[in-house]
Amino acid sequence: MYVLSGDVLERLKAGLLECAKNEEPGGPDIEMPGPGSWPEPYKSRAGGLAQARSSYVAAEEKKRGITAADLPVPGPLAGAALFGAPHLLLVCTTRGVSVPYSCFDAGAFAQSLTLAAHARGLGTCIMAGAVRHPDLLRALIPESEDLVFMVAIALGYPDPDAPINQFPRQRAAVDERAFFVGS
Ligand SMILES: Cc1cc2nc3c(=O)[nH]c(=O)nc-3n(C[C@H](O)[C@H](O)[C@H](O)COP(=O)(O)O)c2cc1C
Repeated sequence: MYVLSGDVLERLKAGLLECAKNEEPGGPDIEMPGPGSWPEPYKSRAGGLAQARSSYVAAEEKKRGITAADLPVPGPLAGAALFGAPHLLLVCTTRGVSVPYSCFDAGAFAQSLTLAAHARGLGTCIMAGAVRHPDLLRALIPESEDLVFMVAIALGYPDPDAPINQFPRQRAAVDERAFFVGS
C-alpha cells in the first residue's frame, strides 16, 4: 500500500481533474469495465443507483439552498478531486503475481481497512477511478514501474451533514442474492 498526501496528492488531483475534463478513458493496470458493460441485473442496479443518488443530492441542495460555491468540490468532478479527501491509499500488487488472486487479497484488505477507519471515526471511499490513469501515479511514486495499481481508497474525516452522505441506499433483499441449497 502507498499513501499519498500533501503536495503529491494535490498533483495527482490536478492530473485526475484534467483527465476528467478531457473525458480521457485512461488505461488502468487491471481490467475495469464500467457498469455500462455489466450484465443484468447489475447494470440496471448500478444505473438506478447513480440516478437516484444524483436526484437526491440535487433535491437536497435545492432544499437547503446549497450552491456550487458552497461545496469544496462541486458537481461531476468531485470524484476526480477525490471528494476533497486529504489522503489517498493505493492498494497494489507486483507484476508477475496472479491478478485474479491479488484481486481477492486487495478486496479483503480494502474492506478491513475501511472498517478499521470507520471504527476510528474516519471516512473512506473505495475508488477505481483514482487508479484509472496509472501513468499519473508512476510519475509521482519512485520505483513504481513494477507495481500494479489495483484500487484506491480516499481517506479523511467524513462530513455527515453532506447530502451525499445522507443518501438512503436501497439494499437488495438477502433472498434476492443469497441462495440456500439443502437443509
Ligand atoms: C471496487 C470499487 C470501486 C469503486 N470505485 C469508485 C469510484 O471510482 N468512484 C466513486 O465515487 N465510487 C466508487 N465506488 C463506490 C464507493 O466506494 C461506494 O460509496 C462504496 O462502495 C460504499 O457504498 P455504500 O456506502 O452504499 O455501501 C467503488 C466501489 C468499489 C467496491
